[in-house]
Amino acid sequence: MSVSLIVLAAGKGTRMNSDLPKVLHRLGAAPLLHHALQAGQTLDPDQIVVIAGHGAAAVEKAARAFDNSVEVVLQAEQLGTGHAVAQAASLLAGATGDAIVLYGDTPFVRSETLQAMLDARVHNAVVVLGFEAADPGRYGRLITSGDTLERIVEFKDASDAERAVTLCNSGVICADISVLFDLVSRVGNANASGEYYLTDIIEIARAQGLSAGVVRCDEDETLGINTRAELSMAEAAFQARMRAEAMENGVTLTDPATTYFALDTVIGRDTTIGPNVVFGPRVTIESDAEIKAFCHLEGCHISRGASVGPFARLRPGAELAEDVHVGNFVEIKNAVLDEGVKVGHLTYLGDAHVGEHTNIGAGTITCNYDGVNKHHTEIGPRVFIGSNTMLVAPVRVGRDAMTGSGSVITADVPAEAVAIGRARQVNKPGLAVKLFDMYKSVREKRQKEAQ
Ligand code: UD1
Ligand code: CA
Repeated sequence: MSVSLIVLAAGKGTRMNSDLPKVLHRLGAAPLLHHALQAGQTLDPDQIVVIAGHGAAAVEKAARAFDNSVEVVLQAEQLGTGHAVAQAASLLAGATGDAIVLYGDTPFVRSETLQAMLDARVHNAVVVLGFEAADPGRYGRLITSGDTLERIVEFKDASDAERAVTLCNSGVICADISVLFDLVSRVGNANASGEYYLTDIIEIARAQGLSAGVVRCDEDETLGINTRAELSMAEAAFQARMRAEAMENGVTLTDPATTYFALDTVIGRDTTIGPNVVFGPRVTIESDAEIKAFCHLEGCHISRGASVGPFARLRPGAELAEDVHVGNFVEIKNAVLDEGVKVGHLTYLGDAHVGEHTNIGAGTITCNYDGVNKHHTEIGPRVFIGSNTMLVAPVRVGRDAMTGSGSVITADVPAEAVAIGRARQVNKPGLAVKLFDMYKSVREKRQKEAQ
């Protein structure tokens, strides 16, 4: 059975008090929108359509960044959730099977829950995801009789008796795709908000003799983000879940409360993460690695047995092969470090490739930027780069070579050579004593003048 996703993401999110569309605010270092897309993508959908409105260009970019096959349609005016779904009709005209409607601002709906809705579709034309609300507030209420969902009434339009119902609408709906668009096309806007409510399709379906049912989930799953305060609480909930999952998967977190995951962080078994480690997007770590305290990692891959930190920063394109060691105050960007490379201290490697078992001395810098362009540094295997070497790119250091510490390397170094690029040392016998005497007499003179 095929399935398509419709993700509603046109709203402005007024209460965020932001120029950024709500669905692009970040949770686990990913736009809120990606969370909904990720849950939906596990169903292996044929098509994913995102309904964009406020900040549509930026929303489209973010949607495509998640998966280039995501289609985006503009809802120029936000006339309601029913109107939003209707915008997907032409893009999904040829589609068959089921459609699931998700909200871009509701990040915690689990893929298992969506699967349960698809399963429930066997018995019902339309399936709505509901939850028992501790405080039903302004949620739409699900009006049922027995197992049948009769209609959904929005808070604004509800009677006191209806407002007393605690079974609420999460907003997630599943229906046969052609049935969905037929129902949506019949929705009007004669209600308290003057909006085209998606929720009205239930009553319309029932009037046509179609069946409707409810799948229930925990309230936590349906949490929608409306304010920055809610976003921060959602972040806490997200981190708590990621930490628990990581530990369950065999990752040691020394101080879980200070490990910050991204939505797509992947860590292998028996890897240890020290305190205060922050993961940005696109980090993968294999098994048996160690990330020591206070590291910031983003867009990088760390192989088995590697150790990183404390206080290291790995930026996009950093790739560490097996048993690489990266020590304190080292920054690595767009650089591949082959097996067994050691970069112990105070170093910047950018736009570089370092061959296996090479040692990079303290204070080494690849001078990769000339103010306009970036250039590559190529360092061969088994090289010894002396401390405080400046590698002015583009430059190559051949295999089994050395650089003298303090060198500024501006020309390629042949294999097996030693390159020394610094002023030659000169010793002046006895001069230090003379200088000390001179400086002391200057100090005494100043002290006398000050009296
Ligand atoms: C909606 C439901 C309500 C449910 C609640 C759950 C309707 C009529 N009401 O109410 O029953 O309890 O969600 O959170 O469906 N959107 C668009 N285009 C529009 C309108 C909305 O894309 O024209 C998007 C919003 O960006 C948002 C989502 O749809 O992501 C829900 O819209 P919102 O206005 O927040 O609906 P609620 O009033 O919360
Ligand atoms: Ca809402």
